[in-house]
Amino acid sequence: MSTQNKQDREAWLQGPTAQCQVVPEHGENPWRLVLLGAPGVGKGTQADLLHQRLGACHLSTGDVFRAAGSRPDCEQSPAMKEAAGYMRRGALVPDSTVWEMVRERKGCLHCGGGFILDGFPRTLGQAESLKKLMDSEGLSLTAVVNYDLPFGEIVARLGGRRTCEKCKAVYHVTERPPTVEGRCDRCEGKLFQRDDDRPESITVRLEAYDRSTAPLIEFYGKLGLLVSVAATGSPDEICAATLSSLESRHAERVPQAR
Ligand code: AP5
Repeated sequence: MSTQNKQDREAWLQGPTAQCQVVPEHGENPWRLVLLGAPGVGKGTQADLLHQRLGACHLSTGDVFRAAGSRPDCEQSPAMKEAAGYMRRGALVPDSTVWEMVRERKGCLHCGGGFILDGFPRTLGQAESLKKLMDSEGLSLTAVVNYDLPFGEIVARLGGRRTCEKCKAVYHVTERPPTVEGRCDRCEGKLFQRDDDRPESITVRLEAYDRSTAPLIEFYGKLGLLVSVAATGSPDEICAATLSSLESRHAERVPQAR
C-alpha cells in the first residue's frame, strides 16, 4: 500500500456535492479507525501521521465546522451559525446537527482508502448512530485508538497550537514550530490561533470531554475495538506506538517501518 497519498478531503470538508480531486488508492482491507482522547491530546497530529503510513483519509468533524464557519455569512446555514457559537464557547455542538452533517457525508465512510475519524463520535448517542449506520451499510470499524495524556500537558499543547487557515496543518509554537514563523511549511498559508484555544474555552472543552466523551472508552472496550496508547513523547514516537499496538491486533495490515 502506498504510504505517500496526498489527502484531499474535499468531499468531507465541503459536503457531498464536492468531489475529491485526489482519490485514495483502494486497498483490499482499508483502515477504518476512530481516534478518541481529550481535546489537545494530539488526535489531529496523529491522524495526519497515520494517514501518511496507512493511506486512510483524516476526517475531522471540527475541521468541517471550521470550514463552514469561514464561508461568507450569506452561505452559512442557521445550523452552522449555531454550531460556530457552541464551538467558540468550547461546548459540544448538539448531536442532531453533528449527525446531520456526518450522515450527508456517509459516502466518505465507503472510501476505498479507508478513514480516520477524529472528533467524532463524541457522545454515546453519536457512537450508537455511527454503529447503526455502519451496520446498515455493511461496514465495520477496524479499531478505536484512545490517546491518554496528563491534564497539564494537554493545556500546554492547546495554548501553543497554531493552525494553517488554508490546509489545516497543525503546528505548536515550541514543540512543532513552522520553518518560517506564522507560515505553513506545506502551503505557505497563514497560521492562526483557534478561538476555542483561549483558557476559558479550554476548561469548558475538557469538562465536556469528561462528561460526554470519556464514556466512549467503555462503549468501544465492550465492543472489543479499543486500543490504548500513551500520548507522551514526540509525535513520531506516539505514531510508532500506535502502529505497533495496531500491529499486534492486525499483524497482516500494518506497513513495516521504513
Ligand atoms: P475538534 O476540532 O475536534 O477539537 P478537539 O477534539 O477539541 O481536539 P483538538 O483539535 O483541539 O486537539 P487534537 O487532539 O486534535 O490535538 P492536535 O493534534 O491539534 O473540535 C472543536 C469543536 O468542534 C468542539 O469543541 C465542538 O464544539 C465541535 N465539535 C467537533 N466535533 C464534534 C462532535 N462530534 N460533537 C459535538 N461537537 C463537535 O494537537 C494539539 C497541539 O499539540 C498542537 O499544537 C500540536 O502541534 C501539539 N502536539 C501534538 N502532538 C504533540 C506531541 N506529541 N508533543 C508535543 N506537542 C504535540
